[in-house]
Amino acid sequence: MRIIMLGCGGFIGSHLLDRLLDEGGFEIHGWDPSDRKIARHLTNPNFHLHRNTTNSPGELAEIESEIAQADVVFNLAAICNPAEYNTRPLDTIYANLFDIYPIVELCAKYKKWLVSFSTSEVYGRTLSSYLPGDNYSNPDFYELREDETPLIMGPISNQRWTYACAKQMTERLIYAHNQENGMPFTIIRPLNFFGPKMDYIPGRDGSSDGVPRVLACFMTALLDNKPMQLVDGGLAQRTIVSIHDAVDAMRLMLKFPDKAQNQIFNIGNRNNEVNIAELAELMRLTYAKITGDLSYKNHPIVNTTSKQFYGEGYEDCDRRMPDLSKAETLLGWTPTKPLAEVLLETMSYYHQQYASPVQEKVSA
Ligand SMILES: NC(=O)c1ccc[n+]([C@@H]2O[C@H](COP(=O)([O-])OP(=O)(O)OC[C@H]3O[C@@H](n4cnc5c(N)ncnc54)[C@H](O)[C@@H]3O)[C@@H](O)[C@H]2O)c1
Repeated sequence: MRIIMLGCGGFIGSHLLDRLLDEGGFEIHGWDPSDRKIARHLTNPNFHLHRNTTNSPGELAEIESEIAQADVVFNLAAICNPAEYNTRPLDTIYANLFDIYPIVELCAKYKKWLVSFSTSEVYGRTLSSYLPGDNYSNPDFYELREDETPLIMGPISNQRWTYACAKQMTERLIYAHNQENGMPFTIIRPLNFFGPKMDYIPGRDGSSDGVPRVLACFMTALLDNKPMQLVDGGLAQRTIVSIHDAVDAMRLMLKFPDKAQNQIFNIGNRNNEVNIAELAELMRLTYAKITGDLSYKNHPIVNTTSKQFYGEGYEDCDRRMPDLSKAETLLGWTPTKPLAEVLLETMSYYHQQYASPVQEKVSA
């Protein structure tokens, strides 16, 4: 099977490459300026990396000739870091919509199967969060169903929604090409994939000093002996799924194209729901276990506001509880890894990669 993978050097792409290239039977042409997470595949004769962004001058012609010969195109290229949605809104919109637009057009031209990574953020905030009183007792007001749930974004001035809106428009473009031109597609809405190689630890590996997603933020605080910062009380609820479970779902999509095509799938784990305050708590307990240093159980957690942490225009999704019945019924996929296992694996990886041998602990 011949695969194009755009954004193959990121977190999800690197794990998908691990799975497909280790299994064999796939020829993969990838695009990504970054190869740090996929270094072990660079000499694999079945993998061809173009170390460029898809929007680099002249690149589209090369992409077109590869798409023309491909069986499936995975689109993972994105800016997908919440700290950047309101601070780099134009880059966020371009990366998630306009840079993807020519790729969608090429897939439509050649009627190639486009597997595009969207986001659960397209759902925006739940109905429950807008209704007066406590409406979380009724799943109809907060459960996320791919083909039914309305997509509710905040006002334009809350630029946090640039990412979700750009992703939603890309979904609509893909869907329209399917309806009008018969382009086969699969849209994946990931719900917090966690695992090794996720994001970066600021200042390490030549990475920037920016603000990564929450797992890497908390991990950086633990590694650097700085307080974990809880934004707006850490009340937002998330479901966390192992990257390995998620890659299983993608593998099943490739195995059963007839079931996967022309569908939108939530990929998450309903059993692993925590709010961010609970996640911080679990992470410091897990780190105490990994290091054998019990004082991590009391690692400081401090409160901050979204305005202080992310800047003006930030607004959060309150809760993301996916309905997974489509993935279960069509693909036969059920996630299996409990949160404790996911955190242990992920945090052990970061500890091995980045913990300095001698650390001075901050006191609680
Ligand atoms: N990880 C999650 O839980 C999660 C959640 C929601 C959505 N997603 C979506 O899944 C996809 C992959 O996410 P990830 O976690 O692997 O992100 P990531 O940031 O780790 O990887 C994205 C990769 O795309 C590359 N890239 C960006 N623009 C590019 C371009 N124009 N051409 C080529 N490469 C480009 C980057 O260099 C990076 O390596 C994204 O579309 C993201 O929006 C992921």
